[in-house]
Amino acid sequence: MLSQSLQKAINDQIKDELYSAYLYLSMSAYLETIHLSGSARWMRLQSQEEASHAMKFFDYVLEREGRVVLQAIEQPPQKFKSMLDVFQQALEHERKVTGIIHRLYDLAGKERDYATQVMLQWFITEQVEEEKNAGEVVDQIKMIGDQPAALFFLDKQLGAREAE
Ligand code: FEO
Repeated sequence: MLSQSLQKAINDQIKDELYSAYLYLSMSAYLETIHLSGSARWMRLQSQEEASHAMKFFDYVLEREGRVVLQAIEQPPQKFKSMLDVFQQALEHERKVTGIIHRLYDLAGKERDYATQVMLQWFITEQVEEEKNAGEVVDQIKMIGDQPAALFFLDKQLGAREAE
């Protein structure tokens, strides 16, 4: 059985992952409006990945005979300044999520819930990947600067991302 505090923290995490899905979907919609359909597709897939993260936590709570309590999801921002702004915000967001996952891991340690720590190891590794991916795109956009042809190429490349 999960402790009450861990159950509450994992339920919070389900909401946070769904918020991530919502945020990236909002970013995807914005990117579509500025005709960067490759980047929009990349963000849409990222959104789906976040929804699958939420489901991993959802299934874990049930597996441990806990209670899933779904919460209200905050409205994500809808106005962004540029593609660079979008990916910078995504990177910032992932860094924040990494901190939350680490705090969850600490809590599981405090509660001596080793199974939860093992489950969270997947997320700790995943966060390294998530920060790397968003960070790479930020660097590439900065490198491109004011060259529309290069931006067009990067957008195409991002659009080739494979669904997981
Ligand atoms: Fe669910 Fe982007 O971490």
